[in-house]
Amino acid sequence: MHTLRLGLIGSGFMGRTHALAAHSVGLVFPQYGAPTCEILADTDAAQAADQAAALGFRRSTGDWRELVADAQVDIVDICTPNHLHYPMAKAALEHGKHVYCEKPLALSVDESRELAALAKDRGCVTLVGFNYAKNPIITMAGNLIAQGALGRIHHVRGTHIEDYLADPKRPGGWRTRQALAGLGALGDLCHILSLTQRLVGEPVAVCADFQTVYRERPDGPVENEDQMHALLRFDGGAIGTIECSRVAWGRKNGLTLEISGSKGSLCFDQERQNELYFYRGGEGDPQGFKRILLGPDQPDYAAFCPAPGHGLGFNDLKVIEMRDLLEAINGSGQSWPDFGAAARIDAVTAAMAASFDSGGWVSVNTTNAGCSGTSNQG
Ligand SMILES: NC(=O)c1ccc[n+]([C@@H]2O[C@H](COP(=O)([O-])OP(=O)(O)OC[C@H]3O[C@@H](n4cnc5c(N)ncnc54)[C@H](O)[C@@H]3O)[C@@H](O)[C@H]2O)c1
Repeated sequence: MHTLRLGLIGSGFMGRTHALAAHSVGLVFPQYGAPTCEILADTDAAQAADQAAALGFRRSTGDWRELVADAQVDIVDICTPNHLHYPMAKAALEHGKHVYCEKPLALSVDESRELAALAKDRGCVTLVGFNYAKNPIITMAGNLIAQGALGRIHHVRGTHIEDYLADPKRPGGWRTRQALAGLGALGDLCHILSLTQRLVGEPVAVCADFQTVYRERPDGPVENEDQMHALLRFDGGAIGTIECSRVAWGRKNGLTLEISGSKGSLCFDQERQNELYFYRGGEGDPQGFKRILLGPDQPDYAAFCPAPGHGLGFNDLKVIEMRDLLEAINGSGQSWPDFGAAARIDAVTAAMAASFDSGGWVSVNTTNAGCSGTSNQG
């Protein structure tokens, strides 16, 4: 096992989070070693140098193309606005690098599938930043489902609603420009689809409505949706609803999931990310949801803390995600969600957009060239 060398592109919100994870992962999960923070790229040389110093990288560059070609880089880590994911990931894979990329993988399903096929062809490990699916309590939920505790799943209710653009006086930045972001609230908050992919299966058909609530912001017109909701049919037979919003005052990270089956139900709320609620049907009185608190019986929690109920946070999920990447590169070769799994999520969001355009139900295009990945059902 040789020490892997990381090249980070972008040092905003996510770049900083990935840097924190790269520095911590070797302490929390020593079996995979710590990657070397080798080089950081940002839009210009001065900014890159400042950020490299602040985030503990040895070198810097104002040109990401230099980073992806650098012989001292094993992993290219992409934390830039969405439109740059495709050209950066493509160039990195062409140089034979492993690629860790923020979500959504690309602006179109064709781009995502091309990247998945290229990664497969080059034998490179890929991982996309759907960090909420890395929560050990989601692993526990997956285990309960796999053990049959819910019986046959028949309904899913998911939300990812936040209020970061609820104030119309707030500039939208790159997130409200179609050419830079692609989709709006749905593209930003497609995390909910990684949870359903992990726990329920793949949507096969969708019917969606989109709305732009505030069409103008101080930095220009808003070119994508502020909120959307959709009906879904899943491959395992369940039906469900998904909501995404960036204008829902008071919701800071309203990523919630409720799954109902023939024997029981599970509820999760990211704002209380250390708790899972489980209801086993058919039990005598008193009836009620059982609150399960995350503890060291879950190995990925124990790696951080020996005491139950002390809690993990957002940045810890990124450390677990980084561990999964290192584990895949150092041996297993398997990661989830890899580019194939992320391309399937992009196919669902594209089907939702097509459904809004056509005003009716749309089948999800499940063409799967170059795609792989796992889910518990279907
Ligand atoms: N996984 C999550 O929970 C999560 C949360 C927020 C954002 N994201 C995703 O992470 C990505 C980045 O979002 P963010 O919030 O960090 O954005 P941000 O605007 O805070 O940071 C973007 C960074 O990219 C840099 N950049 C822009 N163009 C560049 C170029 N040509 N070359 C090099 N660097 C360039 C910017 O200077 C900045 O440092 C997006 O794809 C977003 O969807 C994921």
